[in-house]
Amino acid sequence: TRAWAGVVQEYRDHLPVTDTTPVVTLHEGNTPLLPAYHVSEVTGCEVYLKVEGLNPTGSFKDRGMTVAISKAVEEGAQAVICASTGNTSASAAAYAVRGGLTCAVLVPQGKIAMGKLAQALVHGSQLLQVDGSFDDCLELAQKLSVDYPVALMNSVNPHRIQGQKTAAFEVVDTLGDAPDIHCLPVGNAGNITAYWMGYREYNEAGVSGHTPRMMGFQASGAAPIVRRQPVAPPRTIATAIRIGNPASWSQAERARDESGGRIDSVTDRQILVTYRMLAAKEGVFVELASAASVAGLVQAVEEGHVPKGSRVVCTVTGNGLKDPDWALAGAPKATTVPVDARSAASALGLV
Ligand code: F0G
Repeated sequence: TRAWAGVVQEYRDHLPVTDTTPVVTLHEGNTPLLPAYHVSEVTGCEVYLKVEGLNPTGSFKDRGMTVAISKAVEEGAQAVICASTGNTSASAAAYAVRGGLTCAVLVPQGKIAMGKLAQALVHGSQLLQVDGSFDDCLELAQKLSVDYPVALMNSVNPHRIQGQKTAAFEVVDTLGDAPDIHCLPVGNAGNITAYWMGYREYNEAGVSGHTPRMMGFQASGAAPIVRRQPVAPPRTIATAIRIGNPASWSQAERARDESGGRIDSVTDRQILVTYRMLAAKEGVFVELASAASVAGLVQAVEEGHVPKGSRVVCTVTGNGLKDPDWALAGAPKATTVPVDARSAASALGLV
């Protein structure tokens, strides 16, 4: 066996690269497809978690960023820019370092998780906190990329979607075929677009025998696709998907319609309960937004949209360590004890 070399090397036949494209990588991809025993029991399905929080910067964004930054370097860019709810900026900042580019990021002020802010800063990107929403940040980043020499790294950049489709390839390569259903959180709607592209391509190439029904879930206070109109301002505790006007809106609807799937919403309460359940019952610490995929599956099962025994993959998109505040908020206070076994035993209820 040889070491995994990142998604560009592993899937280069399916990606817009040539032998002369410089490969900027942190060896992203090859993430676990983990059987979810508790969720399987609750739903009566065979459920797997695609644990994307185990990518180098802690989210699925790295799959797209390796392609987008590699192409930017190939095309001679010196600076990149992105708008972000935190994960895209963390990823862009790290891959920009790797590719020798400068990086500027626009984030909605006071509305991104602390760990993500730390990542952008520690990797040396220029951070602007914008007095507005993610949607405002994206509009601003797009304008700047048109008027100034900075390359846009948001998922409107088609190379991002190309890279992110490799997650669908990995699922098929691991299971031996596509699942019956694939569940995802939906924010700017790039990832559901990318998975659908990946599943379709593998099916057309004959690698899989079918494609899955795509099920996407928005937070109920930030559910423009479900409500069929932009939401301003979007509201949810899941800051990563606090988005009111997704860039890949129509592509997400296409994924839904062509696959016979659904796009629905889940409440903040459902997201929070599922976030705690994944940590307590599956041993998987995700961020709030990531729990929307599993919360959505549970809801879809209850509503009768999922046949018993279905094989289901839920992508959990980001690592829980990025935003520990929500884990601590629900946890009991720690007890302080002296350096003494009897006191420790008593505090632990062992005596
Ligand atoms: N989950 C997490 C953890 C995310 O960070 C995002 C998007 C999504 C789900 C939704 O994916 O946008 O492709 O539909 N985060 C972007 C960002 C917006 O800036 O980091 P999507």
